[in-house]
Amino acid sequence: MSMTKIGVIGAGMMGSEIALVMALAGKHVRLTDRDQASLDRALKNLAGVLDKGIQRGFYKPEDKTRALGNIETTLDLGAYRDREAVVEAVFEDEAIKGETYRKLEPILPANCLITSNTSSIPITVLSSYWPAARRPRFLGTHFFSPVSRMGLVEVIPGLDTAEVTVKEAFALCTEAGKTPVRIKDVVGFAVNRLIHIFWIEAIRLVEEGVATPEDIDTACKLGMGLPVGPFRLMDGVTNNLTLDVQEILHKAYGDRFLPRPLMKQMVKAGYNGRKAGRGWYRYEKE
Ligand SMILES: NC(=O)c1ccc[n+]([C@@H]2O[C@H](COP(=O)([O-])OP(=O)(O)OC[C@H]3O[C@@H](n4cnc5c(N)ncnc54)[C@H](O)[C@@H]3O)[C@@H](O)[C@H]2O)c1
Repeated sequence: MSMTKIGVIGAGMMGSEIALVMALAGKHVRLTDRDQASLDRALKNLAGVLDKGIQRGFYKPEDKTRALGNIETTLDLGAYRDREAVVEAVFEDEAIKGETYRKLEPILPANCLITSNTSSIPITVLSSYWPAARRPRFLGTHFFSPVSRMGLVEVIPGLDTAEVTVKEAFALCTEAGKTPVRIKDVVGFAVNRLIHIFWIEAIRLVEEGVATPEDIDTACKLGMGLPVGPFRLMDGVTNNLTLDVQEILHKAYGDRFLPRPLMKQMVKAGYNGRKAGRGWYRYEKE
């Protein structure tokens, strides 16, 4: 049976849009964060995402009313005691996620499906913060940014995840308009391993003077059919986050993920991408 009461923890870039796609799918969503200002910001951003989507024809005006009407923000975790599924999207920090689970544990119903949107912490490591009885109901659901536009969710069972939990997570993601794929619990899961190999080689081309970032982006768009080139995408993701992930992948898999010296220089110099006003490209202040 379809789940209708969803909780999202963390109303940042990912959590707020995960709440949005669930709400658009007709779910009742509770969304929480550390303070009211973060929740207000999230709702404002979501209204902006919906308005832009209406302008571009992705959404109808009534979708906005319905989606925002289905999202209830709260600072009271006690309100999560009736949730059928909870998606955690707090900071990418094992201690903060562990502390969040410790607070949720006495509140959530025994059979609640619990997922983490972590992009780099092994699911089995996060699962260890739950008591043994909860672990079969815990797994990873790795959404991609921006969640409202990107179709994929990597669904990652941990060692103790029950098969019925994987099935229910697939159903929930599908109902939210996404396409889930099952991925083993390895560092970087699948998409990050592929994309970082590609980005590292793209930076190597620039270091060797083979082509400029602009020309490589053009080549990738027109020669590979990608909607956006690697340098424009790294600027969106932020170069500092990209370097952090490459360091994690390097530690796990060795030299094939060795971050390029140019990337380290860019980050050291604050060329972090679109939000910083400069990265592989220059940007007008937003
Ligand atoms: N940014 C991406 O492109 C991306 C992609 C896939 C997965 N992820 C993962 O998604 C998760 C969230 O990332 P994000 O980019 O949305 O980060 P973000 O910094 O935009 O948002 C995190 C939010 O969590 C809130 N938060 C922190 N501690 C909290 C707590 N104890 N209780 C409630 N709220 C708390 C913060 O106030 C913030 O609003 C991370 O695990 C990240 O690795 C990010």
